[in-house]
Amino acid sequence: MKVIVTENKIQCGAKAFEIFKNEIKNGAKVLGLATGSTPETLYQNFINSDLNCSNLISINLDEYVGLTPDNPQSYHYFMRKHLFDKKPFKKSYVPDGMTKDVAATCKEYDQIIKDNPIDVQLLGIGRNGHIAFNEPGTPFDIGTHEVKLTENTIKANSRFFDNEDEVPKSAICMGTANIMDAKKVVLMAFGEKKAQAIKEMIEGPVTEQVPASILQKHPDVTVIVDKAAAQEL
Ligand code: GLP
Repeated sequence: MKVIVTENKIQCGAKAFEIFKNEIKNGAKVLGLATGSTPETLYQNFINSDLNCSNLISINLDEYVGLTPDNPQSYHYFMRKHLFDKKPFKKSYVPDGMTKDVAATCKEYDQIIKDNPIDVQLLGIGRNGHIAFNEPGTPFDIGTHEVKLTENTIKANSRFFDNEDEVPKSAICMGTANIMDAKKVVLMAFGEKKAQAIKEMIEGPVTEQVPASILQKHPDVTVIVDKAAAQEL
């Protein structure tokens, strides 16, 4: 894994954008995108640039089950607000959290990823080492699936909701197998609350208890962190 440490999240966003821009210049057509507060500085760089995204495809990692796309807490909404409204892509896929048939939706999403192999996958990381919503204990070899969120994640994500009870209890999420199939992975993290997860991901054993640790086995991963998130390395 290549690790880049910068001063702050603004610099991390600029660095990540440099990588994406370069990959797009070199022919990347399918971007795997992520939500959470972490990618915001990167998306701001996309918006402020003259990059044309209208011939690119995006595939998002996950969506809460039970939130409509116009719910401000949904990841559909997040992506429109932070990127797509200002930088439309040719086609943007986000899992359908309102599906009546979760299993069929997961299967379809796997097919979408198969038909559109991801050139660059963006990731954040949860405080417990989760990537997308792949929580500790998730098998490494699964594709898109429904995830029951852990108490830990519900608590961490409740900051975006009025109260903890409003946080959905499950999500549809790409599996670690889908993520590992991406040609290139860029993972961003800021702040001391991520320091332990970053250490375990990079220096710890590869274990399903730390989902992000699987990235040690990927041939092309760049980790972009601020000093606070890098402090345990
Ligand atoms: C959620 C998302 C993850 C994200 C994580 C961290 O659980 N499903 O994709 O990495 O939150 O969020 P943040 O970037 O806000 O710290």
